[in-house]
Amino acid sequence: MMNIFLFVLCLVINGGIHKVHGIQNTLKEDLELERQQQLINKPHIKSIRTKFGEIIDCIDINKQPAFDHPLLKNHKLQRKPNFKISSVKDSTTRFIFGLKKDQYCPSGTVPIQRITKGDLIGDKLLNSHTLTQSTPGDHFAEVSLVPGLGPYYGVSGSLSVYNPKVEKDQISASTLWVQNGDANRIEFGWHVNPSLYGDDTTYIYSRWTRDNYKQTGCFNMQCPGFVQTHKGIYLGTRVDNTSIYGGTIVEANVSIAQDPITKSWWLSLESTTIGYFPIALFSNLTSAEQGGWGGRTHAPPGAPSPPMGSGYFPDDNLVHACYFRQVSFKNGSIQDYGPEEYHVHTNTDNPSCFGVEYYGDQGRQAGYSLQFGGPGGNCDN
Ligand SMILES: *[C@@H]1O[C@H](CO)[C@@H](O)[C@H](O)[C@H]1NC(C)=O
Ligand SMILES: *[C@@H]1O[C@H](CO)[C@@H](O)[C@H](O)[C@H]1NC(C)=O
Ligand SMILES: *[C@@H]1O[C@H](CO)[C@@H](O)[C@H](O)[C@H]1NC(C)=O
Ligand SMILES: *[C@@H]1O[C@H](CO)[C@@H](O)[C@H](O)[C@H]1NC(C)=O
Repeated sequence: MMNIFLFVLCLVINGGIHKVHGIQNTLKEDLELERQQQLINKPHIKSIRTKFGEIIDCIDINKQPAFDHPLLKNHKLQRKPNFKISSVKDSTTRFIFGLKKDQYCPSGTVPIQRITKGDLIGDKLLNSHTLTQSTPGDHFAEVSLVPGLGPYYGVSGSLSVYNPKVEKDQISASTLWVQNGDANRIEFGWHVNPSLYGDDTTYIYSRWTRDNYKQTGCFNMQCPGFVQTHKGIYLGTRVDNTSIYGGTIVEANVSIAQDPITKSWWLSLESTTIGYFPIALFSNLTSAEQGGWGGRTHAPPGAPSPPMGSGYFPDDNLVHACYFRQVSFKNGSIQDYGPEEYHVHTNTDNPSCFGVEYYGDQGRQAGYSLQFGGPGGNCDN
């Protein structure tokens, strides 16, 4: 108390009354952030410190933050999806996401990353990121399913993981998504997002909204919404090793799929479901009229864009530009389909910054595949 008082006093003398208001506001905002932080962070049964120094709390699965959401008051926890996931093992280098097996949360609890005040500030900075494809500062290169051939109930694929150079206040994301209308959307993939994490390494992330990011939705577990069901793999997991251009490729097999009975949207990583977004969170996402695969970048309007994907343009060589391989979609038929050329559009808002190519079915290893990305730079013109 005393220190703050003296500090304020000094400012009165040195800087005039204006700055005192500044300090008071900061204190008020600080208290508000602390209040939000306490709301989000729940009592835990066990705490784990990861090898990166993050703190993960194991929280009663029925008391996790999602259930604070007013729209989830009467939500009944779903522990498993009503669909089967088949996995294909192959020779690509795999790595372990999330907690090490021997660190998994005890039965009946789920890992929730402890939210810091910095996280809340970081998320607030990013509200300008919207679905509108012509926002200055935001750019994309993507393959999207033709709306008229839907509705769609899921998308999946194996995504190469990179660590493009991203500065503070920039984001570079490689992601798949489902979307309905221009308000409801779920994304799932990896991103580099220094204002959110405080560093420029690569993280597995998801993001959702029901109003085109105006008031609702957020990254990962920054706000109530996502229901975590897995005991060891969580959103906001840091990726230890990333791909090397022309060398070893690190992949993440990601999917978003709707539960045919509860209509929840499940996320899976490496063919393991990690949790879901309840249908009640959305204003209209009983099915998706669009979906797809690709990259997005964000920078302050007028400022240079960060690189996307590996930072290289597509060149039909899967160890160069970032790729999705073995992509498929769900459209209400029992099986999943790889999209034929007529099923998709390729789109980039600035071809001199970022490219995208759809290759169709490339055979057993690659399957239905695509590449996207580029160096970025001055992309707002
Ligand atoms: C919900 O989305 C579907 C498909 O995009 C659309 O046809 C329908 O009009 C929407 N309903 C409401 C209530 O907005
Ligand atoms: C990840 O990188 C570290 C050093 O950067 C290396 O020692 C380790 O073997 C790599 N792990 C995998 C799975 O490639
Ligand atoms: C990726 O996961 C989906 C299910 O989530 C599975 O059907 C597909 O075979 C997997 N692909 C690879 C390459 O492992
Ligand atoms: C799903 O797509 C496949 C491949 O294009 C098509 O044959 C099938 O009729 C579609 N199913 C529905 C329910 O639209």
